Amino acid sequence: MTAIAIIGGSGLYHLEEIENSRSETISTPYGEPSDALTTGTLRGQSVIFLARHGVAHTIPPHRVNYRANLWALKHCGARTVISVCAVGGIRADIKPGSVIVPDQIIDYTWSREHTLYEPGLAEVTHIDFTEPYCTELRTAFITAAIEAGIEVITTATYGATQGPRLETAAEINRMEKDGCDIVGMTGMPEASLARELGLCYAAIAVSANDAAGRGTGPIEMEQIMNNLESGMRNIKRILLDVLQARQ
Ligand code: HPA
Repeated sequence: MTAIAIIGGSGLYHLEEIENSRSETISTPYGEPSDALTTGTLRGQSVIFLARHGVAHTIPPHRVNYRANLWALKHCGARTVISVCAVGGIRADIKPGSVIVPDQIIDYTWSREHTLYEPGLAEVTHIDFTEPYCTELRTAFITAAIEAGIEVITTATYGATQGPRLETAAEINRMEKDGCDIVGMTGMPEASLARELGLCYAAIAVSANDAAGRGTGPIEMEQIMNNLESGMRNIKRILLDVLQARQ
């Protein structure tokens, strides 16, 4: 059976609305996913939920086994993957709590396992990645947000950094010159692995803070967590409406 997968990032570790939920522990040729998958139904749709950092948030961005996560979701029937993520806002109109549907990516990560094309496991293909996100899914997020009266930023370039430290002000200035509007640590290689697997993948982001050097003073974890809590309420509403609309 095909399902819609949701990868929850910082601030989204469970979806308690999932009905008939079952926990499934999956092993993959690429190692262990971040946690057990939760399968069930939500708004009449078959869904699979996975906490990207583990349910107890024990896995930092550079240690997430992105390959195992995506492979496991596809193995369990996912053909569409919704990535929920927290970001910092670089562009002036992106404020803490803003909801963003990015349309482009610049990858600054390094030394992460970024491809499934390992000898003996998969034949090498050079995937097209001109448009890194699934247009149909992006449109569904934007439509649901507008219909729910939630302000949404409909185009943004996501700069993926290595972490786990936050950036310097100079790094953010450089990223802005490159064309980045938001910064996060988990957008890559998740998006390109999803493409390698032929999955329809798009991200919906909530801004947790002004990026380094853009706010007043240092970035505090407490401030990030508070902003995420309020932003996630909007994200959840959008998620549920997107699922409902797919019936
Ligand atoms: N930088 C990188 N990743 C992030 C940030 C940030 O400022 N905020 C939330 N995730």
